[in-house]
Amino acid sequence: MSSHLRNGPHGYGIVTKTLHWMVFMAMAAQFTVGYLLDVDDSGHGRGRGRGRGRGEGSGRGRGRGGGAEDGYEPFGDDALLTLHVVLGATVLLLGVVRLAWRLATPLPPWAPTLTHRERRLAHGTETALYAAMFAVPATGVALVLSGDDLLVAHIAAQILFFAALAVHVGLVLKHQLINRDHLLRRMT
Ligand code: HEM
Ligand code: HEM
Repeated sequence: MSSHLRNGPHGYGIVTKTLHWMVFMAMAAQFTVGYLLDVDDSGHGRGRGRGRGRGEGSGRGRGRGGGAEDGYEPFGDDALLTLHVVLGATVLLLGVVRLAWRLATPLPPWAPTLTHRERRLAHGTETALYAAMFAVPATGVALVLSGDDLLVAHIAAQILFFAALAVHVGLVLKHQLINRDHLLRRMT
């Protein structure tokens, strides 16, 4: 663990590393809570003010009145949903801090063992991860505001996230196991 706060020739600093793993843990918790919400919905259909409310009319679901039964109540009696919203807002906040830090401070030099193509791949993957870090919680907020209509957007953003994460972790694993250059140590 380096003692530098900022990134530099030594590698990533403590702030970048702390933010990286805080976001990772918050996202992991958030997916757990998200899937629990989902299981409960299909399993027991607990309506409690956030029923899916399909079936009344065939339109796009616009203008359904906006009463409590039509949408989600983030701060209603559904503690799991409240937790999901609060944790999601935390991810959004951490993402803003992280992006600001990344833009305001220099990146460390590339790991010398990354080929030119791997650098391009890593750059693209990191861009996609940043986009997903915002898109996943932002579509969650939009979903709550829309009442119900945007679940598909929330899930689409999650797919983008998982695709980028698979490449990200895949590249790290490839370097750990095949190149054996301890790439993971750069972030620990
Ligand atoms: C990092 C942030 C987030 C992650 C990883 C996440 C993940 C998830 C997951 C996995 C589901 C279940 C979707 C499915 O497969 O059916 C879900 C559902 C949902 N999320 Fe999120 N979410 C995040 C942020 C948010 C935020 C910020 C809000 C609202 C402000 C939100 C509102 C919802 C709602 C309302 C549902 C639907 C619950 C249901 O009817 O079953 N999410 N989320
Ligand atoms: C929520 C999941 C994750 C996100 C959003 C994410 C995002 C990022 C981003 C954006 C960077 C570039 C540095 C920065 O701007 O902070 C990075 C670097 C890195 N990540 Fe992740 N990451 C995630 C999970 C993981 C996991 C699970 C691992 C372990 C296998 C990992 C290992 C690394 C390593 C080793 C680097 C440094 C790569 C280098 O430049 O040498 N990340 N990550």
